[in-house]
Amino acid sequence: MKFFIKNYGCQMNLYDSSRMTDVLCMSGYELVQDICDAEIAIFNTCSIREKANEKLFSDLGRAKSRKFAAHQDGKKFLIIVTGCVAQAHAQELQRRASYVDIILGPQDIHGIADCIHNITADGNVDESTFNNNCITVQTNLNANNKFAHLPDNFFRRGVSEFLTIQEGCNNFCSYCCVPHTRGREYSRDVEDVLAEARRLTAMGVKEIVLLGQNVNSYAGQGPDAKIWNLARLLYTIAELNGLVRMRYTTSNPKDVTAELAKVHREVPILAPSVHLPAQSGSDRILARMNRRYSVDDYYRCVDVLMENRPDMVLTSDFIVGFPGETDDDFEKTMRFVEKIKFANAYSFKYSPRANTAAAKMDDQIPESVKSERLKALQRVLLEHQKQFNKNSVGKTVQVLFVKEGNHKNQSVGRSEYSQAVSVCDNSIGVGDLCNVKIVKTVSHSVIGMVV
Ligand code: 5AD
Ligand code: SF4
Repeated sequence: MKFFIKNYGCQMNLYDSSRMTDVLCMSGYELVQDICDAEIAIFNTCSIREKANEKLFSDLGRAKSRKFAAHQDGKKFLIIVTGCVAQAHAQELQRRASYVDIILGPQDIHGIADCIHNITADGNVDESTFNNNCITVQTNLNANNKFAHLPDNFFRRGVSEFLTIQEGCNNFCSYCCVPHTRGREYSRDVEDVLAEARRLTAMGVKEIVLLGQNVNSYAGQGPDAKIWNLARLLYTIAELNGLVRMRYTTSNPKDVTAELAKVHREVPILAPSVHLPAQSGSDRILARMNRRYSVDDYYRCVDVLMENRPDMVLTSDFIVGFPGETDDDFEKTMRFVEKIKFANAYSFKYSPRANTAAAKMDDQIPESVKSERLKALQRVLLEHQKQFNKNSVGKTVQVLFVKEGNHKNQSVGRSEYSQAVSVCDNSIGVGDLCNVKIVKTVSHSVIGMVV
């Protein structure tokens, strides 16, 4: 049977989508890029903000029509919802979309082929399966189970790949649904991570991006029975043959250590760029968010990273309109971003999430104020991003080419500073690592010339 996966949300979801592809391809299913060619549609969902939820339900509506048409023709069309909405809103899904066949939380994706097999084994199209209140619902929160059961084999892999080393979160930031969708923090064993990294490099992967909700609080059991931190893991992965670049994301400012910063100085293949979500520039709001760092702590992180890699590039995330955020708090965020000048930053309007502390706070901010603040912040952040790209003109960066571009002879890659760089040069191939001189900037990316 042919399956299609639509991915929503973060890089951890992209990793899960590729692992579900491994599971299904090993069981004889075939991946297709267009839902029109599929007999199974998988929606790997995100529930970080309400918008992502709404998008899912409109996609599900369209899939329902497809399922109905297939049933009219006596064919099966399975609809599967996986990921964070499946975990946090399984009941709502069953109520609002009773035609969904399988619901699997992020820690149950390894079982997807078995679940499909259970439904399709008899080959019959039972009318009752169109609206049957979902045949399979699995929403465990045990990440250990998932990693123990995912297959060793990989389907196709690109030049740059994600590798989840840590999942879940114990921080309970007051706005965040992650502890409810991915469970408590779990670090994979060092040997397990290394085995996967070795398999990736053996397949020609050149860049590995280590993933974790809180990647810099990684604490995995080492082969020496000791607990290894992220710094130690990075030193070891750096030794792998064929690997030319490593990155890690997402970091929490409260867990940035001098030891981790030192790895950036000592390991040349560790990219000098760190995604370090600040969320706010006001200590009062950071406390209400339960972030457990202050603005000064954040500045100290920046200092220790820059001391070790003076060319370090920082990117970040911000939330505006968090409950109780005053004009003065927001001004502090504006002053903070002016001071740091992030190379790139994402910003969002606060979105209340079920079962979180912030959703219950009474001083919620009106939508119009959130919109105004978001517009003001994004204008400044975009200015800084453009400035960063402009400043890089004339500089030589190292680009790992990951795909072909839309134009003739065009290749697209990323610099060590995570900038998207494109060149037109027929001597370049996907997987090449080249020195490139940046010649000009275009919207969100830059154009270069191989030197
Ligand atoms: N509302 C708005 N933005 C959120 N984020 C996380 N939870 C929420 C929420 N409830 C943002 C944070 C985080 C990024 C992935 O999404 O900025 O770093
Ligand atoms: Fe979305 Fe968070 Fe789940 Fe990633 S972990 S898919 S960002 S809710």
